[in-house]
Amino acid sequence: MNIKNSVAFVTGANRGLGLAFARELVARGAAKVYAGVRNPDGVDIPGVTAIRLDVSDPASVAAAVAQAGDVTLVVNNAGIARVLPSMLEPGLVDMARDIFETNYYGVMHVSLAFAPVLKANGGGAIVNVLSDAAWIASPLLSAYSASKAAAWSFTNSLRRELEGQGTSVQGLHVGFIDTDLTQGFDVPKVQPSEVAIQSLDGVEQGKQEVLADQGTRAIKAGLSAERAPYLAGV
Ligand SMILES: NC(=O)c1ccc[n+]([C@@H]2O[C@H](COP(=O)([O-])OP(=O)(O)OC[C@H]3O[C@@H](n4cnc5c(N)ncnc54)[C@H](OP(=O)(O)O)[C@@H]3O)[C@@H](O)[C@H]2O)c1
Repeated sequence: MNIKNSVAFVTGANRGLGLAFARELVARGAAKVYAGVRNPDGVDIPGVTAIRLDVSDPASVAAAVAQAGDVTLVVNNAGIARVLPSMLEPGLVDMARDIFETNYYGVMHVSLAFAPVLKANGGGAIVNVLSDAAWIASPLLSAYSASKAAAWSFTNSLRRELEGQGTSVQGLHVGFIDTDLTQGFDVPKVQPSEVAIQSLDGVEQGKQEVLADQGTRAIKAGLSAERAPYLAGV
């Protein structure tokens, strides 16, 4: 699909990768860009309309979707990460539930609520922001990794479900991005704008999967190895 003249809805577009998506969509000539955000008053992005949205709250999702019946492209970007030094520390189960509410159930709520809208508007596309953490795992980020693995699986099922209505579904996998979420992590990071550009290029080319950095491409390529990255660690 063409981004030019599309009507896009980006969750969590007030900062980080979501903000980069919103800016890139405006730059590519989207007819309208909605930012689905928890605090619409905090959004001042030229060319972007803010709509109140908490992806973990089905009523909030329904209210937001009701205000955006012209959408042709949904970017499920909103997400959270939490670090626990050891899986054996107290709190892992509660933390995992919290993370899943946003990273897994949030993606489900938004995708399922927008599916009929996209159908009515000719098909369109959904981008689900996943992670290389769907394919590797560490004790530090175990709950986050599990949420992204679950969202990856949902994305793959959703793609097949929506094929018939002409909606393409992209899984976007990426390693560390330079946003608030990785503040204090001393690791190589890609810029959010680079990730948004690759993903939207992928939407225009009808790509089902976009791997936005070299590390992620290497991890995916290694999945069939006997010592796959999730066994060997990276
Ligand atoms: N940064 C990385 O290294 C990295 C790597 C791979 C994938 N990702 C994924 O990329 C996506 C964006 O992350 P980021 O790095 O841009 O993180 P970020 O800078 O922390 O931004 C997260 C965004 O999600 C929003 N959000 C969180 N929970 C929400 C909810 N319940 N309802 C609505 N909005 C909510 C936040 O809104 P508030 O401002 O209201 O908190 C914020 O706009 C996430 O899905 C993340 O898992 C990130």
